[in-house]
Amino acid sequence: MKYIMLNHKMNLEYKTIKKYIKQLATIDTKGHSLIVFPSDIYLTNFIDSKFMVGSQNASSNKDGAYTGEVSASQLRSLGVQYSLVGHSERRKYFKETNQDINKKIRLLLINKIIPVLCVGESLNDKNSAATKEVIFRQLQGALDKLSSKDIENLIIAYEPVWAIGSGQIPTNEEIEGVIFYIKDLIYKNFKVKVHVLYGGSVNENNIDIIKQTKGIDGYLLGGVSLHLDKVQELIYKL
Ligand code: PGA
Repeated sequence: MKYIMLNHKMNLEYKTIKKYIKQLATIDTKGHSLIVFPSDIYLTNFIDSKFMVGSQNASSNKDGAYTGEVSASQLRSLGVQYSLVGHSERRKYFKETNQDINKKIRLLLINKIIPVLCVGESLNDKNSAATKEVIFRQLQGALDKLSSKDIENLIIAYEPVWAIGSGQIPTNEEIEGVIFYIKDLIYKNFKVKVHVLYGGSVNENNIDIIKQTKGIDGYLLGGVSLHLDKVQELIYKL
């Protein structure tokens, strides 16, 4: 079983969402675990579908006067089971820090929502051979003072920033190197095993190659997630 997470980002309007939900009902997951991350305004439309639902973000504050924010407890009250945290677009455009991400993870865990923590290096980091160092810092900050039990309820997504939406993907060896680096680091520090996904330009054409990488527990799909026929094709190839 692999996780297949569909991150819509800020896409799809209401009419299209209604069609999407109808088509979603026809998807054959082949025993894989499919989770949809639509825009928050559509979460309730997805809650009653046969698939699990996640949010793309959650507030780092518990509740109160934070206009425009959505809290972990509000998400929980809808039945949301997962939430992305620290996606590179949040880090870049909304200046999210590892400390913010740590607060979000704590609130999500308190509310029994599984955080999907996104980590990954920029092209600059990659070119200066700093990938592992950057990921180490992201994990250190995001997981600060969490317990082993907390870590057991968390998923990590390795998403190289330069691979997101670019059509470029790392080699299988590169992905494998980072995935096992993360798994070993977590095991060393928390004595628990963690699931690690890969994300960044995965599609129905390159999945044949990517799936040969050892250690991948699933995929976080962006662009492709908007086209369920492609998602289905990808699942059939897993
Ligand atoms: P992509 O996005 O599949 O379009 O590269 C992945 C992501 O941002 O999660």
